[in-house]
Amino acid sequence: MPGRLEGKRVVITGGGGGAGAATARLFAAEGARLSILDLQQAEGEALTAELRADGVEAAFHHVDVSDEAAVVAAIAATEDELGGIDVLFNHAGTFMVKRLVEMTREEWDRLMAINVTSMFLTCRATLPGMVERGGGVILNTSSVSGLTANALEIAYCATKGAILQLTKGVAIEYREHGIRCNAICPGFIRTPHGDRERAALEAQGEEVSDDVIATVQGRICEPEDIAAAALSLVSDDTRFVNGSYLLVDNGWMALT
Ligand SMILES: NC(=O)c1ccc[n+]([C@@H]2O[C@H](COP(=O)([O-])OP(=O)(O)OC[C@H]3O[C@@H](n4cnc5c(N)ncnc54)[C@H](O)[C@@H]3O)[C@@H](O)[C@H]2O)c1
Repeated sequence: MPGRLEGKRVVITGGGGGAGAATARLFAAEGARLSILDLQQAEGEALTAELRADGVEAAFHHVDVSDEAAVVAAIAATEDELGGIDVLFNHAGTFMVKRLVEMTREEWDRLMAINVTSMFLTCRATLPGMVERGGGVILNTSSVSGLTANALEIAYCATKGAILQLTKGVAIEYREHGIRCNAICPGFIRTPHGDRERAALEAQGEEVSDDVIATVQGRICEPEDIAAAALSLVSDDTRFVNGSYLLVDNGWMALT
């Protein structure tokens, strides 16, 4: 039986580790041809080698997604390698735990660049090809932090809120070209990012224990939970879902 992404040409930023890597594995199992963009070279190359050993067409591009020239070059190289891009999954991102008055302008700008400007850059580089070929799907990783705010993560929440607005704007502007753009909003995920974020919050006196996570979202979200949600939003199952977001938080936001 053909996979749900059979032959689809997919770019995943942040696909070298965490939930991005879990998504790369699931998309590959569903028949996708992959281009992975990530800052972590060794992890990205190891993953693409693993996928290729399983017969998957996969390439790795060592890219800082906030670097305009690097993004433009990686998207152009991907279009050459795969003959086009059908799906762009903007997952790369990072966080900052700091009080507002302690943040430097450079730290604020850097987080905006990695989490938000990166998505502007990848979308700007990818959309012309999608328009030319008459369609495509974009999925952006926001967070529950894009919908609610908390102390110590004002900049992070601002970036994740901006991603939701970017998502809606792209959906409206490119709908007539057969392009859909949606977002996922995860709760805490068991990844290096999630572990580091919890440790940084705990170091500032915020309790983010397993018990607290169990209270708000039942259990920690596994990378594979994100991959499954991402698959539904890039597959044709959600062909009439556009400019929307999916909470991947096991009911956390329903409590608020
Ligand atoms: N882990 C969580 O609890 C959680 C919750 C909600 C949302 N998110 C979002 O998920 C994404 C992070 O994914 P994860 O949890 O799988 O974390 P992760 O740290 O395991 O993976 C993130 C990947 O993105 C890559 N990356 C980071 N900065 C990059 C850059 N400048 N250029 C290229 N690649 C870069 C990393 O190298 C890594 O492979 C972020 O967008 C984050 O905001 C995470």
